[in-house]
This record gives sequence, C-alpha cells and structure tokens, in this order.
Amino acid sequence: MTVWMSSLDPAPLLECRGAMEADFTNIPIRRALVFGSMERTTSSICPQSGQTTSTDGSFSHGAGPQKQRIFNWTGILDEVHDFEANTRGVSGGKGAITTAPPGSCGTLAAETQQSLPAGLARPVRELESVPNACTHDFTEMDAFMRTIRPPRGLRTLDPASVARGATLFDSSGGCVKCHGGSGWTASRLFYSPTSATNTALAAAPFSPPPSWPASWNNHTLQIEPQKAASDPGVGAVAPAQVACVLRNVGTFGDPSNANVTTVLEIKTGAAGPGARAQGAGGFNIPSLYGLQVGAPFLHHGLAPSLDALLSDPRWAGHLTAGAPGFAPDASARADLVSFLLSIDATTPELPLPSGLDGCPTTFP
Ligand code: HEC
Repeated sequence: MTVWMSSLDPAPLLECRGAMEADFTNIPIRRALVFGSMERTTSSICPQSGQTTSTDGSFSHGAGPQKQRIFNWTGILDEVHDFEANTRGVSGGKGAITTAPPGSCGTLAAETQQSLPAGLARPVRELESVPNACTHDFTEMDAFMRTIRPPRGLRTLDPASVARGATLFDSSGGCVKCHGGSGWTASRLFYSPTSATNTALAAAPFSPPPSWPASWNNHTLQIEPQKAASDPGVGAVAPAQVACVLRNVGTFGDPSNANVTTVLEIKTGAAGPGARAQGAGGFNIPSLYGLQVGAPFLHHGLAPSLDALLSDPRWAGHLTAGAPGFAPDASARADLVSFLLSIDATTPELPLPSGLDGCPTTFP
C-alpha cells in the first residue's frame, strides 16, 4: 500500500502524521511522506533542531537550467533518495529501498529493506538499480519535487519599496553574496552523486575563496563532518557535510544565551538523543522562496518575523555577513522586507557576484 499525504495548511501536518500512524499500525505501509510548498513546520526530527525547509526551495524555479540545492540545514544530503532514512526512522513504514525475490515485489511482507549507507557515502539512488530492487519511487518523487512551484509573492506591496529593497539586497546589504544565484541561494549540487565521486570528494581538499572572511567556513575537505574547532568542548560533529554550501553567520542556538543553545541545539531520535547538533560551523544557505508563508525564520525558528531577523541584535552576525557595518533603519528594513516578500518564481534572479561561489566548477 502506498500512502501519500499532503496538505496546504502547515498546522495539521504533524497531527495528520500521528493520526495516520495510529490508524494504520496493522497494515504494511510503503511510505509516509509529506510534501508541499507550504511544508514549513517546526519539528525535532532533524540532525539539528528546528524548522523543516520548504520543498519549493529544493530546486530553482527561475529562468535557465534547474538547479538542485544541497539538502538539509547543515548540508548533509545530496539527493531526494536520502530521505529514505526519514521514511523508515521517522515517518514510519517499509520505505521504498527494498528488494524481493522475483515476482514478490509489492507483497510488502516479502520485501527486505536494503541497508542504507551513511549520509553522503554511497548514493541511495544506486540502490534502486541493484538486482531485485522493488521500486524507483524516489526517482519519481525527485521528478515530482522539481515541479513544486513556490508560492506567489505578495501582490499588495508598494513597487517603489520593493525596488529600494532589491537595491539594498544586491548592493549595500550584500545579501546577494550568499542568496544570489539560481533559486536564491549559492548552495548547489555541483557533482553527480556516485559512490566513486562521493568517495573522492571526501578526500578532496576544500579551500574557501580568498574573498570569504575566515569566519564563514573552516572546512578543509569537500565532504567531511563539522570541524572540532567549530564547537570547542564538543568536538567534531557527524555526519559528513558538503563544505562549499555552508556559511557560519552566527545563528547557532541563541548567541546571547549559552544555556538556551545547550537545550535547543540537540539531536533527537536515532541520530543520537540529546547529542549536540551541527550548525556551529555554519548552515546551508536557504533559498528565499516562500518567505510569505515561512515564519518563523532561521533553522531554529527563533526569528519570529523578517523584521526581527533584520533588527534583533542576536542576528547581527547574519545581517552584516555580506556588508560589515550594514545597519538599515526601520524604513530601510521595511524596504528589504518588501523585496523579500515579493520573491517568487517570476522574480529575476540576481547572480552570485564573482569570487563568492566556493564550490568546484566541475568535479571530478
Ligand atoms: C554569508 C552568507 C549570508 C549572507 C551575506 C546573508 N545570508 Fe541570509 N542566510 C544565510 C544562512 C546560512 C542562513 C541560514 C541560517 C540559519 O538558519 O541559522 C540565512 C537565512 C536567511 C533567511 C531565513 C530563511 C528561512 O527560511 O528561515 C532570510 C530571510 C535571509 N537569510 C535573508 C538575508 C538578507 C536579507 C541578507 C542581507 C541583509 C542576508 N540574508 C545575508 C546566509 C547569508
């Protein structure tokens, strides 16, 4: 049995998920996944605490070739197929990466879950091609996710304010240094995941471009866990991350309160109950689609509004990351917020300035 769920109202999603698990406990479930452009719920199922990212930002929707963002707030997944682990461990069900004797696929009791490689090691997509594999469901879901259209920008905005905000975003605020490029993020899948390529990336040196401040990223390999130096006293934090999409903008936990950070930034579930989460070394730059329906903001949701994100001193590291000293007054912030709320698939994308992309042009 294949169970799909979707909803346009974020509030009932987790309730629905719980109800479904209760209702279907006696019959085999292939999968239980929740998709939608408005899926921006606060949860504690991730290797770091917080908000689920919106699926419309997983792929770009502007002009030109479609780009895939690296997935997850900390850049630990490079294909839709990697969410098999969520299906099994969180949503519940058999999952879609299974094998069975010839003729038995579809009889879930006869299907055997394939063991999943850790994180960015062998791509899960390869497991769909082994002999006796039962489904290509994740390849089909990947195709579906590419079609999820971002919500339309707000239509009630003052065009002059939006235009002033775009200028702040592009020049004086330096936001474009990270949120430029297709899909409003510099984060991009720059390689075709295969076992050989991912293994090579885990041994390939990473050096940030000279234009990046040292604080943005201290990784030294293209694929590796968070460095020990990022979170003194904690040590390196697994799993491996795609280095070039991460930027440390000082948003790990609550920078004004170490106790809040300690209780907030923990892993849950099989990933290590209570262990320290990733993020002190930086986060995977999010897309800026769907901000109209996206509050609260940041991976942990501690910024209740876009104005709070731009005015609360706790997030000054992010505000000034692209332009040290950037200090917009209330009216400039309102313009910037207008522009952010106007962004949708039809907004002309602003290119990432040269020298700011830290990902290899090609690999291998
Ligand atoms: C150095 C890179 C960098 C620069 C420059 C930068 N950002 Fe960000 N931005 C990030 C990262 C990384 C996050 C995610 C941080 C987190 O969740 O803890 C983020 C998060 C956001 C979010 C929240 C998205 C969400 O879904 O919660 C918004 C909105 C945003 N940035 C807008 C801006 C604006 C406006 C500017 C310019 C004033 C800017 N950013 C400058 C890297 C950057």
